[in-house]
Amino acid sequence: MNGNVEEMFGTDGNFDWNRVYTGQGKRDLEVADEKVLELIDALPPGRALDLGCGAGGLAIELACRGWQVVGVDLSENAIASARKNAEQRAVDVDLEVADISRWTPVGAFDLITNCFALPGSREARQSALRKAADALEPGGTLVVAEWEGSTVDFQGACSNDFWTSLDEVLSAIEGLVIDRAEICDVPAHDHSRGEEHSHDCGREAAEFECSDWKAFYLRAHRAA
Ligand SMILES: C[S@@+](CC[C@H](N)C(=O)[O-])C[C@H]1O[C@@H](n2cnc3c(N)ncnc32)[C@H](O)[C@@H]1O
Repeated sequence: MNGNVEEMFGTDGNFDWNRVYTGQGKRDLEVADEKVLELIDALPPGRALDLGCGAGGLAIELACRGWQVVGVDLSENAIASARKNAEQRAVDVDLEVADISRWTPVGAFDLITNCFALPGSREARQSALRKAADALEPGGTLVVAEWEGSTVDFQGACSNDFWTSLDEVLSAIEGLVIDRAEICDVPAHDHSRGEEHSHDCGREAAEFECSDWKAFYLRAHRAA
């Protein structure tokens, strides 16, 4: 990461993800979050949309498992790294730069994921989540993982409603059927592929000096 965390927030309280994805850092090599993979393991491949796909760890993993994947992210640098990573893994992923709170998905999806990538304001999150819920096929699955704001002790420059919560997300997706919802510890991984290739939320929390942060993992579906 270039610069300290407080410098990454602009005057509007938004995080500058182009400074995180530099094209040559560890974040540009992220792999999929294992708890998210557990939540989707049993689903048959179909059309998937990964919102806030970052460097493509999850989107590429899904494509390798036979899904037809669209990945969207606000950061041009993240999408450039995702394109490079998809090429290296020899899979096709449809990658696009867009703000998920303004962008409307084209078509319907069997799986929509948002992994630690909800926008940094309540209004933008609600817009993104409502669009996601509306874009699910009947029977389609939504998976959201995010830091649980009530456990985050961060004296940074971010806006008051930068952090979300499981309760906020549950109310934004009212109408979907909740399959699983849990708030849990995110221990630093000792990832078998080596630290450089780890989707390591624990390390991220350690960088923020907040290793006791918790995350929530939510899986819901649209009634068939
Ligand atoms: C912590 S990273 C997670 C990336 C990826 N989902 C993962 O799990 O490796 C957060 C990502 O969310 C993206 N993001 C944040 N707000 C966004 C928005 N409004 N629209 C699109 N992407 C957004 C950032 O650019 C960044 O790539």
